[in-house]
Amino acid sequence: MKAAPGTLPNRQRERLLREARKVMKQAHAPYSHFKVGAAMLTAKGELFTGCNVENASYGLTNCAERTAIFRAVAQSGPKLEIRAIAVVNDHGIPCSPCGACRQVIYEFGPEAVVVFQAAKGWKESHITELLPEGFRLQ
Ligand code: THU
Repeated sequence: MKAAPGTLPNRQRERLLREARKVMKQAHAPYSHFKVGAAMLTAKGELFTGCNVENASYGLTNCAERTAIFRAVAQSGPKLEIRAIAVVNDHGIPCSPCGACRQVIYEFGPEAVVVFQAAKGWKESHITELLPEGFRLQ
């Protein structure tokens, strides 16, 4: 069945969630004990993944979403266009991207679909629902 505009076909969503769960296992989370994985699909059809990387100086922690995005830029260049990004955690609890990650997703995906666990099950939101009036320098 064809997905509604702005939503992801089931097969793509399942693939992203599967890859996010895989990379989640690589997380460095000895402080929070909360492992997170993110997987994203670009407009070119490439897939990139990332996990959270914590630090003893807690504020230096990098979230899974930003790890995936920075990895994509380093590997494939700055013409990145995020079509969709999925986030999972090893506690199976609600976890939407933090404010900083929303702004970074928006930079490369003003039309991105974000898949995450919400209070009532899995949710698929447009980035501008999560971050209205995101910042752009143009
Ligand atoms: N974290 C993420 O990686 N992504 C999110 O969407 C929420 C929070 C990480 C940061 C930190 O390593 C741990 O989860 C607890 O906050």
